[in-house]
Amino acid sequence: MPPAMHRIDGSATGSLASTSLTGGIAGRSVDVTMGTSAEPAPGTGADSYSAIAEDYARFSEPAYFAVPARELLALLAVTSSTRLLDVGCGTGALTERAAQVIGDSGLLVAGDRSPGMLAVCRRKARSASLLACALPRLPHPDGTFDAVTASFVLSHLAEPMSALVEMARVLRPGGVLGVSSWVDTAVTTAPGRLWQEQLERHVRPGDLEAISARHVPAEAALADPRALSGVLERAGLAIREVVVREFQVHIATEAFIASRSVSAAAQHVRAHLSPADWQRCLAVAAADLVASFGHQLSFGLRACLACARNVP
Ligand SMILES: C[S@@+](CC[C@H](N)C(=O)[O-])C[C@H]1O[C@@H](n2cnc3c(N)ncnc32)[C@H](O)[C@@H]1O
Repeated sequence: MPPAMHRIDGSATGSLASTSLTGGIAGRSVDVTMGTSAEPAPGTGADSYSAIAEDYARFSEPAYFAVPARELLALLAVTSSTRLLDVGCGTGALTERAAQVIGDSGLLVAGDRSPGMLAVCRRKARSASLLACALPRLPHPDGTFDAVTASFVLSHLAEPMSALVEMARVLRPGGVLGVSSWVDTAVTTAPGRLWQEQLERHVRPGDLEAISARHVPAEAALADPRALSGVLERAGLAIREVVVREFQVHIATEAFIASRSVSAAAQHVRAHLSPADWQRCLAVAAADLVASFGHQLSFGLRACLACARNVP
């Protein structure tokens, strides 16, 4: 079956051999065409996020992404007159807060390659201009923005360096870039390991690692503050601050399962099971998690938050 063409609101509109997205900023419009050779399983492939956007917004964003996004934004000292691009905005973890600060005074552009994620972001940050874009390319002229953010996005890129150089290009001289990356992942926590073991029962050994390597090829390389500083410096940026913060996650076991079910690994397993077997997999995972940890889970997740300046 050929892939469907998605409108910016995430709804399927037909069947084409490529997905064409249109976005715009302050009167400029942008066309990004992403070729797709075969229909991926839901939640996997180049735009692995559209299929899971609503669940991401409901379960994953509040549990893992909202607090680090707010802290990253705080590092950049954004004001009401800032011209900000939030690239890889997802469902708006950072954009929503930026919209509250910037309002209609400055400029706020929220860019993502996933139409489904953009559609949710639009609901939460109405003053933001939405932009369909795929790093490492951005459509803006040099020096358009005072600040650019990419919160938990660089890990998705095979070559984060070229994306950083591009983000620096659209910053004005002296403008600031804010990026974040996970030091720990949900899999490195005790409940996360138990969940992963459950998934692994349904696939060949090594399958889930291979999926993660495809989905977040740079995750391991950026999971360290020195490595993140190094890549920012090699992109020609001057480090202002790189910090490792631990965020406490308190989440009901049921919500934890929902938040982990949106991962590329879980979507892969789900695509290869019958609906009944997937439900059984979830039920066994829930029983194991409740037996080991109870109905309420608490764990810490560390992330690197970095702020760097575009040197004039
Ligand atoms: C882990 S989510 C983070 C979303 C949001 N920044 C947050 O903190 O919740 C990664 C986002 O990056 C987007 N993304 C991944 N690769 C991208 C690329 N090459 N260009 C633009 N967006 C990309 C995905 O579609 C997804 O919305």
